[in-house]
Amino acid sequence: MNTPYPPPPSREGGDGGSQAMPAPGRDGLPSGRPSGETMKERLVQLEVLRYNPDTDTEAHFQRYEVVCHEEWVVLDALNKIKESIDPTLNYRWSCHMAVCGSCGMMINGEPKLSCHSFLRDYEGVIRVEPLTHFPVERDLVTAPDDFMEKLKRVKPYVIGKKKPIEKGEHKQTPAQLMKFRQYSMCINCMLCYAACPEYGLTPHFIGPAALTLAHRYNLDSRDEGRKERMEVVATGEGIWECTFVGACSDVCPAHVDPASALQQLKIVGSIDWIVEHLLPGGKP
Ligand code: SF4
Ligand code: FES
Repeated sequence: MNTPYPPPPSREGGDGGSQAMPAPGRDGLPSGRPSGETMKERLVQLEVLRYNPDTDTEAHFQRYEVVCHEEWVVLDALNKIKESIDPTLNYRWSCHMAVCGSCGMMINGEPKLSCHSFLRDYEGVIRVEPLTHFPVERDLVTAPDDFMEKLKRVKPYVIGKKKPIEKGEHKQTPAQLMKFRQYSMCINCMLCYAACPEYGLTPHFIGPAALTLAHRYNLDSRDEGRKERMEVVATGEGIWECTFVGACSDVCPAHVDPASALQQLKIVGSIDWIVEHLLPGGKP
């Protein structure tokens, strides 16, 4: 029996993270298509940056031609290439629904989630490269170590000293939650780092997502760690390195708006400085 929705290629995750996956759309059907309609096919050309540290002295582009369904995303095309043309191609992914943050790559020069980049939005050859500003481990797989280290530095967790956990839950009103909710939606995809010219120029910059998480916890009514976080954040490696280009917010797939978080942190840092240095006996 013919199914109206031919399945996308293999759902085995790249880079070792394999698992059974749902169909492309969140409802189990290819996004935006009513049931009963047949998907059109299209020959898609992808130019993928390849690099094998064991055999290559430098990276090179490899071109693939693959028949894809119109409703597929770039990740589906990569999966079909890996399944039916070239099993040596390496890339990361897991959820296929813009949640895990692991499939970030440069698509036609822009930082994108490959599971959220629809083939129908591209014409001609689609160029796929690893996320810029990060060391390449193999093909499209980059090393996130620098980002992970920066996340740790901002202490992205509730620091509560006054009320120990055994004394019960920390209640929070909806209004208190809304103060930081947007900044808690980060999926750690690192697209904002790939988009940030400042991070490209000065790798010591703590960067958009980590600083945004610092702001998120500073705004949390249960938290008492603002002072220790600001010692890391209000520095030349932190908010004062940000030149407010805003590219981080443009590329963020979760609408976190890191650029706004950083500007708010600059106001907080400036007020802290004035209180500490200009007011008699002042403490931020
Ligand atoms: S702030 Fe946005 S772009 Fe940056 S890591 Fe989080 S979700 Fe990704
Ligand atoms: S595969 Fe999880 S965000 Fe794309």
